[in-house]
Amino acid sequence: MVDFSRIRGEFPILDQEIHGHQLVYFDSSATAQKPRCVVAAESKFYETINAGVHRGAHELAARSTVAFEEARAKVAKLVGANSEEGQEEIVVTPGATGGLNMLATAFGNASLGRGGEAAKRFALKPGDEIVVSKAEHHSVLLPFQELAYRTGATLKWFDLTDDGRIRSDTADEVITERTKVVAVTHISNVTGAITDIAPIVKRAHEVGAIFILDACQSVPHLKIDFHKMDVDFAAWSAHKMYGPTGVGFLYGKRELLEALPPANFGGSMVELAWMDKPAEYMAPPERFEAGTQPVAQVVAAGVAADWMREIGMENLMAHERTITEELLKINDVPGFRVIGPVESKDRIGTVSFDVDGVHPHDVGQFFDAQGIAVRVGHHCAQPVHRHFGLFASTRASTGIYNTVDEARKVVEVAKKVRPFFKV
Ligand SMILES: Cc1ncc(COP(=O)(O)O)c(C=O)c1O
Repeated sequence: MVDFSRIRGEFPILDQEIHGHQLVYFDSSATAQKPRCVVAAESKFYETINAGVHRGAHELAARSTVAFEEARAKVAKLVGANSEEGQEEIVVTPGATGGLNMLATAFGNASLGRGGEAAKRFALKPGDEIVVSKAEHHSVLLPFQELAYRTGATLKWFDLTDDGRIRSDTADEVITERTKVVAVTHISNVTGAITDIAPIVKRAHEVGAIFILDACQSVPHLKIDFHKMDVDFAAWSAHKMYGPTGVGFLYGKRELLEALPPANFGGSMVELAWMDKPAEYMAPPERFEAGTQPVAQVVAAGVAADWMREIGMENLMAHERTITEELLKINDVPGFRVIGPVESKDRIGTVSFDVDGVHPHDVGQFFDAQGIAVRVGHHCAQPVHRHFGLFASTRASTGIYNTVDEARKVVEVAKKVRPFFKV
């Protein structure tokens, strides 16, 4: 039995009052709080082995390189990726947004002929199709929309069910022989719905398309095995999985990473550089890691990955499900409407809602006055809000530290919102 009250005690930030109330943090979909071991790992790195990684001739550089590569292996283990030398499938990025932009830019470079014969599988031209969904975070939608504009390819998208799930059942119609890239979210950061990706992956591969997963909201909440899921690329951020800000990861099948041209150029990614001819780039993952790496953050992200695995993703999922079930009762509060599935099946505890007659910013402030942190706005996902006839919503999202009592408090406070605003 995992003692979740002990785990909660590992988050010092939660032990404080906000506006005279015990802080209740329900904004983990934006960013998760950090356990002591993660905070300590970052400062210990700076206090003991801080140095740039790779190529250093001195002992600190050697130690920081070992710590950096060990962290990569820990992260790989969390998501079912390879991490042996020469087989690495994890690229360090500045975050999910950075990883997704990097991919779209690399595909754009391949479309310009960069990367030679091997990179042709990523090249796009007018008539080709890129498929996303209406549930995408702007971090997926915009880079791939821009890629379509740059290459002349056509952007297509999956529609959503009434409760906001991606219509995987339409994969055979949406993805055609002309589709070259499919990029969809594993879990919407608005609806909390888990996408049934299997039919989409299968169809994408049937037509020879590359399948990219936005795993930002799934790595922190689900047991993930990218090999089993057969995804080609996946991007996520460390700060949502109890790790530091400023760093994220891109998973890529090894053979694809080897064929993909780089997107960012500079130090630490090149074998040979000349004035009068193109450089020879390093093998992945270094090829995609130009510049000085955020080593302390990567090391701390590795600690976060191990910490999650020690708790056990099944335990974490079961714990969060009980809180999600409680939170979803907000749908029964008069005037409240959950934007997304109203049952806990195949969803996580990211619960967005509309309150009839009250603006989300007012709703958020009302919760804040009670010490409850929720997020308001469009959550960088405007098309999914339009699907529900909205521009913005209020979102309560769970983390490992939340309790059923806290979820009950959210529902109790919710009942007071409309009376307070005299609706
Ligand atoms: C589903 C989803 N995708 C992508 C992102 C972008 O993540 P980041 O801002 O950490 O790059 C987020 C962050 O909210 C998200 O929830």
